[in-house]
Amino acid sequence: MDKKAEILKLKEELGALLAAHYYQRDEVFEIADITGDSLELARKCRDSDKKIVLFCGVGFMGQSVKILSPEKSVYMPKIACCSMARMIDSHYFDDAVAKMEAAGIKKEDIFPLTYINSNADVKAKVAEMGGVVCTSSSADTIIKYAMKSGKKILFVPDRCLGVNTANKMGLKSCVIGDGKNMKECDVICYDGFCSIHQLFSVDDIEFYRAKYPGILIAVHPECDPSVVAKADFVGSTSQILKYVKELDPEQKVAVGTEFNLVNRLRDKNTYVLSSTKPECPTMNETTLDDVLELLKAIKNGEAYNEITLDEDTRLKAKASLDKMLEITK
Ligand code: 13P
Ligand code: SF4
Repeated sequence: MDKKAEILKLKEELGALLAAHYYQRDEVFEIADITGDSLELARKCRDSDKKIVLFCGVGFMGQSVKILSPEKSVYMPKIACCSMARMIDSHYFDDAVAKMEAAGIKKEDIFPLTYINSNADVKAKVAEMGGVVCTSSSADTIIKYAMKSGKKILFVPDRCLGVNTANKMGLKSCVIGDGKNMKECDVICYDGFCSIHQLFSVDDIEFYRAKYPGILIAVHPECDPSVVAKADFVGSTSQILKYVKELDPEQKVAVGTEFNLVNRLRDKNTYVLSSTKPECPTMNETTLDDVLELLKAIKNGEAYNEITLDEDTRLKAKASLDKMLEITK
């Protein structure tokens, strides 16, 4: 039996759900039961009646599934991490709050928001201060909600999403450590970033515009603000997919997000907005072999790479995630 057939058979036998993020390599993406962006995956896994989830993505995404569905056993065929999510933990979060306090902003006047690309301990910290989670597609809605409190917004961990969203909304922003007066800003960003989305540059945009006059540029808001300022379209992974699919087939477009997603769209008119291969490294390590090995191990009672969370952290993280789901529904 070939690998794919063996995976499908074992999956059926065990009643397991295979979930894959858009950034997974094709061989895994093609056999997944559900695919999508990080939030869609967490929602779809929660709504499935399957009790075993094999999650192909990065750690914070698998955690989001576990946060919303504690009754499910969530495994990752290969441990993978988001470099941005690893740039902050609960101690660095406290440190960011302390820096705002040192700048003369009282703790009770801080409204924390965390991008979903953060681990459960950071989401729990945010919940303790009454804050909310956001995604790249809901950041503006959530910032608008937070602004109503009259407080200063602490936005972690992605400085690019924070600054780009503030710019879009006409708000003042800064990045902790950039020397700007925090008290004069609405959105104060932690200095985290996505190492993959930093690969897209203004030079790349100028190159494609010179090469193909009339080409459109679509980028993810994790790109640097200088890149976002020159793009024709800015959106989350799902929004970029929709945008490109709805273009006239003869319209050229260069896309600035992770390679696997763009490569699936690639044809004579769709280009990767980079002279390098912008792959999310550990996300790309999961193979069909990894999926098969894990399924065999689960069958033999030797499962590994299970995502676990202590219940206190999970409940707090859930509170900040639920609040976003409530605000955006
Ligand atoms: P999505 O939330 O759109 O899936 O994006 C996650 C991500 O890591 C983008 O780099
Ligand atoms: Fe994290 Fe960037 Fe990879 Fe997205 S592309 S999972 S933000 S490292």
